[in-house]
Amino acid sequence: MIRKTLVINGVTRNLVLDKDETLATVLREHLLLTGCKIGCGEGHCGACNVIMNGKVTKSCIYKMSRVPDNAEITTIEGVGTLSDMHPLQVAWMAHGCAQCGFCTPGFIISAKVLLENNPSPTREEVRDWFNKQRNLCRCTGYKPLIDAVMDAAAVLRGEMTKEDLVFKPTGDSIKGTKYIRPSAAQKVTGTWDFDPGEGLPRQHQEHRHQRSRKDARRREGHHLQGHPGCRRHQPDQRPRHAAQAQQDRRL
Ligand code: FES
Ligand code: FES
Repeated sequence: MIRKTLVINGVTRNLVLDKDETLATVLREHLLLTGCKIGCGEGHCGACNVIMNGKVTKSCIYKMSRVPDNAEITTIEGVGTLSDMHPLQVAWMAHGCAQCGFCTPGFIISAKVLLENNPSPTREEVRDWFNKQRNLCRCTGYKPLIDAVMDAAAVLRGEMTKEDLVFKPTGDSIKGTKYIRPSAAQKVTGTWDFDPGEGLPRQHQEHRHQRSRKDARRREGHHLQGHPGCRRHQPDQRPRHAAQAQQDRRL
């Protein structure tokens, strides 16, 4: 057994541990910080990433005997609070970056370190960073994750606010992001001022059933002019009354 003093999410902890235990096990099972996930358990997926002394660390393969005394460790529980979320957390929700959500803490931890060291990364640099940190996501296809990091970086640089990241229905126009449902971030930050009892906002009620422009035109009573499969509606092929045709010719 060994004794360690660690500063975890700003709180000093005195721990007595088995030296062969991993940091992930200690965080999850001793301290109940279960935001740190164990996916592969072999250092390949980044789900267990935490920040240790400013560096991204794979806690699933990091033995406690290697953890320096007084190490400063940040887990996802130490990144923002419910009432004051980190821009990365808001962006993650606004961009729909979590499906199963298992990878999310590891990605946000990695992204946080990236933005601390490089406040204006390019999309390519973000991709490279996630690649380097071996962050894997089975669900989202990575694009929304990169979008979220770029937006969070803009917030941290002061170019936009966290509120700009979330959808705001204003009159008949849609401002902010492209998302039509109140996100968890909106619920938490209180920026979703729409009354859920009324159903969707009006602009969404209009668009909800319009799967295509063709549908929309049909609904509005427009003919499908120019549609090759709809000869009946070709304007110059409609049967005309002879008098009308004569008048057309005069014009
Ligand atoms: S669980 Fe640690 S890298 Fe996969
Ligand atoms: S959201 Fe499921 S693995 Fe990333």
